[in-house]
Amino acid sequence: MNSLKITTETIRAMKTRGEKIAALTAYDYPMARLLDEAGVPLLLVGDSLGMVVLGYPDTTHVTMAEMEHHVRAAARAKPNALLGGDLSYHSYETVDTAVADAKRLVAAGAEYVKAEGGREILPQVKAIVAAGISFCGHLGMLPQHVLEEGGYHIKGKKDAEHQALLEDAQALADAGAFAIVLELVTPPVAKEISQRISVPIIGIGSGPDCDGQILVTQDLTGSFPWFTPRFVKPRLNTGEQIRTAVKQWKASLQP
Ligand code: KIV
Repeated sequence: MNSLKITTETIRAMKTRGEKIAALTAYDYPMARLLDEAGVPLLLVGDSLGMVVLGYPDTTHVTMAEMEHHVRAAARAKPNALLGGDLSYHSYETVDTAVADAKRLVAAGAEYVKAEGGREILPQVKAIVAAGISFCGHLGMLPQHVLEEGGYHIKGKKDAEHQALLEDAQALADAGAFAIVLELVTPPVAKEISQRISVPIIGIGSGPDCDGQILVTQDLTGSFPWFTPRFVKPRLNTGEQIRTAVKQWKASLQP
């Protein structure tokens, strides 16, 4: 066994040591390989691929077949990083479909699966874990519910939301989730959850005090320049660099 291979235990041990966990999305072979070579320990084939790769308006359009296709591509990089995949919208409505679809992602090369929700999906989470599949939770703003919620709203401002987030996070940890993504949660609540829950809390737009941070790689690199979330500071301007390089190449063809 490759001694550099990251496992769910490695990720949990990082929290214990107080080492911040860097996580990024990768939807294909070159990006999974580049991020792995850069030393990112946790990779996700997120259903955000719907927007930043497939051109859908939100994640609700992504199918399991599309997730499998992209998990297969990313897994071909054989990263040392732990590579997971999102269960697509509607794919985990029952215990049976949750387990069957989690197995499809594992067969495609995922080493963990992620699904959105708390206590309402606990039977599915327990069944996935009982099937021997590592599970990552996702709480806070749930992008698969963006249409019902009428947008991407910050969670945890109201006492009831704060309490529900804590109870959901505890329930997911008790059910065997090895980590939980916390999206768009107010920073003080995200900090409290990170301190009170034993499994790593990976924030996105939830302030600096989570155990780790996850970003959509296209947001970090400026390679989906038509929209960047407010909480991301892009480190590259890849979109503009591509336009410039292509214009220069096109001009160079002229006699
Ligand atoms: O779909 C996704 O990429 C995600 C992360 C950004 C957390 O769920």
